[in-house]
Amino acid sequence: MSAPHDAAAVLRERAGGLAPRLGIVVGSGLGAVADAVTDAVVIPYADLPGFPRPTVAGHAGEAVLGRLGGVDVVVLRGRAHLYEGTAPEAVRVPVRTLRALGIETVVLTNAAGSLRPEVGPGRLMLIADHVNHSGINVLAGPNDDEWGPRFPPMGGAYDADLRAAVRAAAADEGVELAEGVYLAVLGPSFETPAEIRAFRVLGADAVGMSTVHETTVARHCGLRVVGISAITNLAEGMDDEPLSHEGTLASADDAAVDLARLLVRAAGDLA
Ligand code: HPA
Repeated sequence: MSAPHDAAAVLRERAGGLAPRLGIVVGSGLGAVADAVTDAVVIPYADLPGFPRPTVAGHAGEAVLGRLGGVDVVVLRGRAHLYEGTAPEAVRVPVRTLRALGIETVVLTNAAGSLRPEVGPGRLMLIADHVNHSGINVLAGPNDDEWGPRFPPMGGAYDADLRAAVRAAAADEGVELAEGVYLAVLGPSFETPAEIRAFRVLGADAVGMSTVHETTVARHCGLRVVGISAITNLAEGMDDEPLSHEGTLASADDAAVDLARLLVRAAGDLA
């Protein structure tokens, strides 16, 4: 057995009667989403074979099984970032574990900087597509044919039908939702103003240090993907606020409340 199957076995054993149909990965400071889960069973990543040990403040490192908006879900609270020096395997395993559980749809969330002045801190952005500018593809290396093909396509990676469902849920909830392209850098340093100007030319609407890798692994193994960025700041050079991880976490709190409401409303349509 491989780590994803072993981890899925642990989750199944502890899930009681739950049969998760939706996976949700919550990013920096967005724990409010996990707090919205009812009948929660919490399993530390330390108990899940192959799962990362997050080293960054704001990333808890636990799986929360329970119910959200009437759907059985697994919320993965905390993720590995490649800037931590994490092996790509630690990014692949949690996503494949969701697949091994029989889940077909994953919601990937993150904290991000906005390149659009009108979409400021506290706002949510639905990810329409991404640019992987991190210099790393987590599928590099021998292909594991059990999970997917050597050359997975990435067109339509952020499922159009699911995006429509999220937009509808946002309208129902009165949550303002932008939509755009997420560009990933490796990090851990924030960007320079010149980089942000360059990324605007590349078509980016938001910038962050995660998500594209999980999307790549998810598409490889046939999971449908929804991506939502919580905007925590305007990108470097757009205002006079100095960027810091602490500032990011503080602004993520506001967006997390809307994000939790949005996902409670959308869960039934996404699963
Ligand atoms: N840049 C990169 N990652 C981020 C940012 C940013 O401005 N804000 C939150 N995560």
